[in-house]
Amino acid sequence: MIGAGYVGLVSAACFSEFGWTVTCIDKDTDRIAQLNSGKVPIFEPGLDNLVERNRSADRLRFSTDLHTAVASADLIFLAVGTPMRRGDGHADLSYIFSAVEEIAPHLQAFTVITTKSTVPVGTSREIELKLKQLRPDADFVVCSNPEFLREGSAIQDFTHPDRVLVGCDDERARVIMERLYKPLTLRNAPIMFVGRESAELAKYAANSFLAMKISFINEIADLCSEVGADVQEVANAVGADGRIGDKFLHPGPGYGGSCFPKDVSALIRIGRENRAPISLIEQVQSINDERKISMAGRIEKAAGGSVRDKIIAVLGVTFKPNTDDMREAPSIVIVPMLQEKGATIRIYDPQGRKHGEDMLPGVIWADSALDAAQGADIAVILTEWNELRALDLETLKDKMRGDVLVDLRNIYRPELVAEAGFRYQSIGRPSD
Ligand code: NAD
Ligand code: UGA
Repeated sequence: MIGAGYVGLVSAACFSEFGWTVTCIDKDTDRIAQLNSGKVPIFEPGLDNLVERNRSADRLRFSTDLHTAVASADLIFLAVGTPMRRGDGHADLSYIFSAVEEIAPHLQAFTVITTKSTVPVGTSREIELKLKQLRPDADFVVCSNPEFLREGSAIQDFTHPDRVLVGCDDERARVIMERLYKPLTLRNAPIMFVGRESAELAKYAANSFLAMKISFINEIADLCSEVGADVQEVANAVGADGRIGDKFLHPGPGYGGSCFPKDVSALIRIGRENRAPISLIEQVQSINDERKISMAGRIEKAAGGSVRDKIIAVLGVTFKPNTDDMREAPSIVIVPMLQEKGATIRIYDPQGRKHGEDMLPGVIWADSALDAAQGADIAVILTEWNELRALDLETLKDKMRGDVLVDLRNIYRPELVAEAGFRYQSIGRPSD
């Protein structure tokens, strides 16, 4: 497994749990040293136990030494980052191709090389061409096996997938991939073998569709506020239709994370470059970008028109709960805008501080929600962590000097918040 990040580490740990022997390689020597000393460098529920169990059983190994791992591998997964490229919004494939160059000299017997990273259509073929140039003598096949796990529920998603998708044009590789995933298919997870281009495109299409669903409900929520409807009721009614489904219909401050924003951007580039622009998804991208920006204005309005010299308690800054990942989180747009408007920001997040300290300069970090609320004029919920769902609202209110609660995740019932003495602003509900 090349890359020991959110996807590489979770996949490696789960494969080793199935009984396979997996070596996780990462360029980041600190990360590998931590893993070898029993520490898991990312926060993902359940991952530390899974890693420890399989590391102790010697099925899961960590190394920076590519040579030995590659030479003895039947299968090599590329699970390195494919971030948004600066300037043109395309997927940056530099990590993929440097990994390919690094593994090439060490290939020995027949090896299946598989992209687990999300890569643009045609990348598997390009990798194949590159490897053929570098190692005309090597016996290998390149497959695509996109990953659909979510951060925060990664182990459950990996071990109980809706489908396992494999883009593969070679019978020998197909047999190996079938064997690899046997423990899942025995549990009835469907394994879908498709062409490599289809697998690569399906991954972008799935993420973009989900992003579209979120933008759709966000716009419906804004309409609900104007016409006196309740977005939860509307979403429940709409989602009850099996053709639509009730998942990913929670309105919020805009989607974030390491994948939706970059994958939406990459699909737009792929569409334009192939003379099949996906204007629907282009619209989704701008709706989401504008939404994050507009949230600062909403908070300002809820505060009576200005946040100058106000203290704002921000509860939750990660892009979603149960992760320490801050990449493209709405908070990194909203918090600096509030600071520019003259507010002092106090943040509490159960896991966000590690990365947040660099990404959100000039804020004060608190050790609990109540600590953040001490003397604050406004409290703003940005991420729906479970521990923020059941705050004692009266105590929260008593700690504050103001009485405004802005809930951008709709985790409270308006009447309960009003009972605690708050003026409450949520998203797309009649009280708004
Ligand atoms: P990440 O940034 O957490 O991890 C990538 C790791 O790869 C880093 O630790 C980095 O040091 C390492 N790396 C880079 N180049 C290397 C090289 N040449 N050799 C060894 N290690 C190298 O990234 P991630 O979030 O795990 O995402 C990886 C890929 O998986 C992306 O394409 C992403 O779109 C896709 N994906 C991510 C998720 C998710 O939830 N994060 C879900 C599905 C798919
Ligand atoms: C997402 C997809 O759900 C995974 O299937 C995919 O594998 C992954 O991207 C990827 O390719 O990396 P992830 O980004 O970890 O997973 O988390 P999600 O639960 O999808 O949330 C993404 C963003 O959408 C978050 O900011 C979240 O708050 C927001 N969201 C999600 C909403 O605003 N409303 C919703 O109803 C659902």
